[in-house]
Amino acid sequence: MALIAPSILSANFLNLSKDIDMINQSQADWFHLDVMDGRFVPNISFGLPVIDAISKAAQKTLDVHLMIVEPEKYVGAFAQAGAHNLTVHIEASTHLHRIIQMIKAEGMKAGVAVNPHTPIHLLNDIIEDLDLVCLMSVNPGFGGQKFIPQTLKKIQQLRQLITESNSNALIEIDGGVTLENAKTIIDAGADVLVAGNTVFSAPDPVAMIAHLKQI
Ligand code: DX5
Ligand code: ZN
Repeated sequence: MALIAPSILSANFLNLSKDIDMINQSQADWFHLDVMDGRFVPNISFGLPVIDAISKAAQKTLDVHLMIVEPEKYVGAFAQAGAHNLTVHIEASTHLHRIIQMIKAEGMKAGVAVNPHTPIHLLNDIIEDLDLVCLMSVNPGFGGQKFIPQTLKKIQQLRQLITESNSNALIEIDGGVTLENAKTIIDAGADVLVAGNTVFSAPDPVAMIAHLKQI
């Protein structure tokens, strides 16, 4: 049974508290919060004040996915805003080891996200320090894209690396997760499923979360 992390990117920003309550009352495990800067990815989403506000209403883990350049500048600010998990992109982090230690020093769980083209072996020397690896199964920047099938092979490679290195890192899959492909993704070794469009475009999002949770 995987952890389910609905992505707020697909929520109704005009009535965010309704969607936060929905997730609080559902079987979802985490809130997935996508921060985009218009530089690392070709889109701008939301930032610190929105996360700070969500943290006051959310009753579950806040899983913050930074799609920004120079993430090291904002580690303390996201801790202050209420992030529990903070994930940075390997492609945006020159001194990845240092930033992982900074995240942990702020009392958060540390995650690394990898783009679809980034090979798993680049995590070889950092995997033991990680709480979470976010495998991008779409090119980051937008919700509602199609799952890239090569991700399945990367999940298996990452699972093997985690086992061999005695790491406690969870494998999170982000992008294009549907009711149809969720079982294949979990069978490949995923621990956490992010779901934006699949949850928020469903006629009954609470029921959709329950369906994903049952897989
Ligand atoms: C994409 C974001 C995802 C996105 C997933 O850049 O990181 O978290 O919200 O959305 P869906 O599930 O709709 O692909
Ligand atoms: Zn994300």
